Amino acid sequence: MLKRLNHVAIVVPDIKEASKVYKTNFNANISEPKSYPEHGVTVVFIELENTKIELMEPYGEDSPIKKFLEKNPHGGMHHICMEVEDINKSLDSLNNNKVKILGTGKPVKGSHNKPILFLHPKEFCGTLIELEEE
Ligand code: CO
Repeated sequence: MLKRLNHVAIVVPDIKEASKVYKTNFNANISEPKSYPEHGVTVVFIELENTKIELMEPYGEDSPIKKFLEKNPHGGMHHICMEVEDINKSLDSLNNNKVKILGTGKPVKGSHNKPILFLHPKEFCGTLIELEEE
């Protein structure tokens, strides 16, 4: 089912500071910050040759990553995102295996405007998994 690694996401307390760290130390290629009020995050993407690193800062009072930052005040790795060919096919197969899907249990539009699913970390060795249709 799995294709390429799309991105690794890291929650950060201050996205400008975090971007500066990647710029200063790695001279990384970093996108402009973009806020998604509907997802409660501001993100930048650090472009690598074979994948991306997504830095995420909470946006607004109801941000779903606010709690994560309370537990990890310096930030930390939040999820990995892997590509799948057909998200509905993947969903059927995961439902057959009784895997817990977060949210409504249906694909939603992610920050790349492609349908995504989040899978409960308990079933995947403590790692939150995002699937994105390629
Ligand atoms: Co993501």
